[in-house]
Amino acid sequence: MLQQLEELKSNALQELASIADAAGLESWRVRYLGKKSALNAVLRGISCLPLNDRRAVGTLANQTKAALEDGLQQKELALREFDLAAIAGREAVDITLPGRPLPVGGIHPITRTIYEICDIFTSMGFQVVEGPEVEWDYYNFEALNIPEEHAARDTMATSWVDAETERGERHMLLRTHTTAVDPRVLETMELPIRVVTAGKVYRYEASDATHTPMFHQLDGLAVDKGITMADLKGTLYEFARRFFGEERRVRFRCDYFPFVEPGVEMAIECLVCRGAGCRLCGNSGWLEILGAGMTHPGVLERAGVDSQVYTSFAFGIGLERLPMLRHGIDDIRLFFGSDLRFLRQF
Ligand code: DAH
Repeated sequence: MLQQLEELKSNALQELASIADAAGLESWRVRYLGKKSALNAVLRGISCLPLNDRRAVGTLANQTKAALEDGLQQKELALREFDLAAIAGREAVDITLPGRPLPVGGIHPITRTIYEICDIFTSMGFQVVEGPEVEWDYYNFEALNIPEEHAARDTMATSWVDAETERGERHMLLRTHTTAVDPRVLETMELPIRVVTAGKVYRYEASDATHTPMFHQLDGLAVDKGITMADLKGTLYEFARRFFGEERRVRFRCDYFPFVEPGVEMAIECLVCRGAGCRLCGNSGWLEILGAGMTHPGVLERAGVDSQVYTSFAFGIGLERLPMLRHGIDDIRLFFGSDLRFLRQF
């Protein structure tokens, strides 16, 4: 019996080696491993054998079965690979080609600029806050020392949201600057305060190479006992060094904004000519990049902050101009045109 099993195994494996398709393999499986196979008959008959033979026959029969099953599995794999190779040979599917890349989104250059500036200010202890884009007249103008009929309203062409009241008043608008977040922060946050806020602002204007009816700003506000103009200059110098480079010169000049006193404008040495004068800087050698100042006592008082005890500085930056200057982009509309050939460059 043992010899029979050995023969059966070597015959089966020999036959297996010459099988070339799935149908041949299946009939081989039925013949050698199926219910009616000789091997199965041996396995079923083991219990009828004399006790002395059982162990040796049982062991060999099981080994034989394992060897045949193993051979079957190997052959299946080999045939499958052969199939794929055959398909590839007919060029129906070239399985060696790399997969198609999925389109992946990227971070918009304006969002990148916001992240970069927020990083600089958070490392100096500022906290990032947000405010609404649909805003009350009160926070956008009134609370910032810009009453009705103030000339400053004309410089910020406003998109109104709600209809005029019977008395001809309008209350709700699309914020014209992120400075509108400042009085909200002053009203609600605990002192001392150090915040930056960034986002979309709106002006009722036609588009051209330097204007769009929606653009982005970032505003900062610091409130504490004993804050002075020196803190303002130190903070903004540090920002300019980190954003534009260590060696870039910075200039402050007087300017007017209703919500600060004194007000300043900060300029950096021209990125192209480094102060010599060129087309980009209109021959001045300087690029104006932000407005700032010591928060007007009236703004603090109106929001419930005691201006006898606390002082504050504030600043506001237009965000599109920064990547435009850095990368020599000459049309602001490119940021909002969804042209991937432009956007993918960042
Ligand atoms: N909100 C001003 C604008 O849109 C910019 C500005 C100037 C913001 C001075 C400030 C500031 O916070 O202190 O033109």
